[in-house]
Amino acid sequence: MVLKEAVEQEITRELSPKRLQHTRSTCQVCLSLAERFSLDAEAAWTASMWHDSSREWDIRRLTRYVQVHQLEITSLERRVPMLLHAPAAAFRLSQDLGCSSTEVYQAVRWHTTGHTSMGSLGYALYVADFLEPGRTHITGRDRERILSLDSLEAMMLEIYALQFAYFSGKDIEPEPESLRLYHKLSIRGDQDT
Ligand SMILES: [Fe+2]
Ligand SMILES: [Fe+2]
Repeated sequence: MVLKEAVEQEITRELSPKRLQHTRSTCQVCLSLAERFSLDAEAAWTASMWHDSSREWDIRRLTRYVQVHQLEITSLERRVPMLLHAPAAAFRLSQDLGCSSTEVYQAVRWHTTGHTSMGSLGYALYVADFLEPGRTHITGRDRERILSLDSLEAMMLEIYALQFAYFSGKDIEPEPESLRLYHKLSIRGDQDT
C-alpha cells in the first residue's frame, strides 16, 4: 500500500470525527504554508495528516509504547504523558508505514513543544496545528496577524510569545526545548534585520 493510502486508512481508523476534522484542517493550513514557503507538498501532507495519529491512545498505551521501543523522551513528556503521542506517532510512521523522510519524522516528533532540530516543515506543521480555523484558543485577529508575517520563523516566535505569556499567567515553566528554539529563532531574526 502506498504511504498516502496507509496514512488515510490509519487515521480514519484511529481518530474520532472531531480530531479527524482538526487533522484535515491542520493539513489544509500546512499545505498552504508549504506552497507559500516552497516546502515539499507531499512531506507537508504526510506530516500534518499523521501528526495526531496516536493522540487518542490512552496514557498506558503511550507509556508502554515508548518504553517498548526505547524512544527518547523529554522531562516534560515524562511528566505529561499525553505529549507522548508525538514521539509515538513519529516512530510509527517510520516503523509501521515505512516513511523514511527525516524531515517528516522531525516535524511529527516535535509538533507539540518545538525543537531546534524540527526544520521548516516542522515550523509549518507547528503553526498550522496552532492556528487552524477550528482552534478556539486563538482569536481571528491573532490568526490573521500571525499568518500575515513574512516567514515561518517569525510565526513561530509569535506563537511562542503567546504561549509563554499564557504559561507565565499559570506559573508554568516552558519546556527547555521550546526556549532553546525560541532563542535560536530570536537570534536569527536579529541578524536578518
Ligand atoms: Fe498533537
Ligand atoms: Fe494537532
